Amino acid sequence: MHAKTPEESRTIMTDLVLPSETNPLNNLFGGELLARMDRAASIAARRHSRRIVVTASVNHVAFNKAVPLGSVVTVEANVSRAFKSSMEIYIDVWVEDRESGTRSKANEAIYTFVAVDETGTPVKIPALEPETDLEKERFAAALRRKQLSLVLAGKMKPGEATELKALFENS
Ligand SMILES: CC(C)(COP(=O)(O)OP(=O)(O)OC[C@H]1O[C@@H](n2cnc3c(N)ncnc32)[C@H](O)[C@@H]1OP(=O)(O)O)[C@@H](O)C(=O)NCCC(=O)NCCS
Repeated sequence: MHAKTPEESRTIMTDLVLPSETNPLNNLFGGELLARMDRAASIAARRHSRRIVVTASVNHVAFNKAVPLGSVVTVEANVSRAFKSSMEIYIDVWVEDRESGTRSKANEAIYTFVAVDETGTPVKIPALEPETDLEKERFAAALRRKQLSLVLAGKMKPGEATELKALFENS
């Protein structure tokens, strides 16, 4: 199984914000954005693994900027690290200015997907080879985030989270 680059599975989805997708302040409803991010992330995970993929966890979501009705929203999903059967997917959300066309970062999120077979059993996936500085930075921090997610899910004992311990010992 040969390693793949993030570029090979990068998924970019652009869509409008319609009235039925907004909250009472006429901004994009958070759940709608979560669904759009989940969709883009699942496609990136599927492209990387070429298997059935399921969302295992939403590790982090930051709704930093409201996204107004009528906005053009781009959701970009990149595989930031591949483990044995799980993948961390980093999602950047951009909003396009109507007049200038300039894109500004609105939100970001980190999801974990697991590749499974037809019975739902996790299967092995290709490794990820980061290329750019940003890809390398996200790759390096992904193991720490995986351990934190597993600790929060009760699937790993805090004492076994070596990357988290190292973080506190070095600060
Ligand atoms: C995700 C799922 C396949 C994991 O099954 P599991 O029995 O925990 O399997 P494992 O313990 O072998 O874990 C499989 C991988 O997922 C990772 N994983 C599991 N839970 C995780 C979590 N909360 N955060 C991060 N990674 C997680 C494990 O670390 C392991 O990674 P690795 O193989 O790359 O080392 C299973 O829980 C599932 O099918 N969940 C439902 C998924 C779903 O329906 N999603 C849609 C939500 S509506």
